Amino acid sequence: MGRWDKEIKEAASILAESTFAIASSGAGVSAESGIPTFRDPGGVWDKLDPAEVGTTSGLMNTLQTKSHILLPFFLDFLDIFERAEPNPGHYALASLEKKGILKCVITQNVDNLHQESGTMNLIEVHGNFFRMSCLSCRNKHTVNRKSFIREVRNGINALDKFDVDSFLSIAESCEQCSRITRPDVVMFGESVQELPAAFQAAEKSDVMLVLGTSGVVYPAAYFPVKAKETGAKIILINPNENPFPGMTDVYIPMKTGEAMPAILEHIP
Ligand code: OAD
Repeated sequence: MGRWDKEIKEAASILAESTFAIASSGAGVSAESGIPTFRDPGGVWDKLDPAEVGTTSGLMNTLQTKSHILLPFFLDFLDIFERAEPNPGHYALASLEKKGILKCVITQNVDNLHQESGTMNLIEVHGNFFRMSCLSCRNKHTVNRKSFIREVRNGINALDKFDVDSFLSIAESCEQCSRITRPDVVMFGESVQELPAAFQAAEKSDVMLVLGTSGVVYPAAYFPVKAKETGAKIILINPNENPFPGMTDVYIPMKTGEAMPAILEHIP
């Protein structure tokens, strides 16, 4: 019997009895896929300054003035995103959806791993790195994660300098108007995507799984608050911290890649 068996069984029984269970996921769900979180020790914000890379103007300025610092990190991220595969936590969520229990996943992650594990009803509030958005006509198109990364890496390797102009010269072209696109992700200061759908799902939910998030980035940190306000039970899985202690019904201090499959095993 595992240390958190009681909590796992309780979470399974709450989910089995639910009528509209949803999940709200953060970077921790992809940690076991090898993608570093933002705020854990050694995370992204330990290595990079959000002011220098988290806003469009900051990123452009850093690219122009300090590309020698940015380039190794950028190439490292490409490798990490290329190697990543969905982990058992992602697959357990997709299975819960197939069983008809989980109605949707709201995610802050941009890595495409929820889709790749088979989750269909997904609300990506911070966008998706592997969907391109045209800067001119706003058309969006998706790209294959691994081949896109290979193309970007080949493009970078062929550059003789790394500044804003050379970076833009290798940007993916719009399928519709051939102009420059950028990954359709939300930078700091930009509008969060699909917010009405996310709040509607939170309000309608009777159970919310809160998974792998530090709960410090808004508006995503309001989703559990809204769900609780409208009567939902909160099941929170995070091995290091519970950011919503006052409103959690079941807290499981485990990795989502271990806890979610264990919960699934107890659901008929
Ligand atoms: P954070 O990096 O802030 O938090 C990750 C959380 O995951 C922490 O609470 C960890 O304890 C937890 N964690 C680590 N490993 C885990 C595991 N194996 N299983 C479960 N939990 C684990 O990431 P988010 O809360 O998602 O925004 O951060 C939200 C936003 O901050 C990101 O979407 C990004 C960033 O700034 C934008 O880029 C707009």
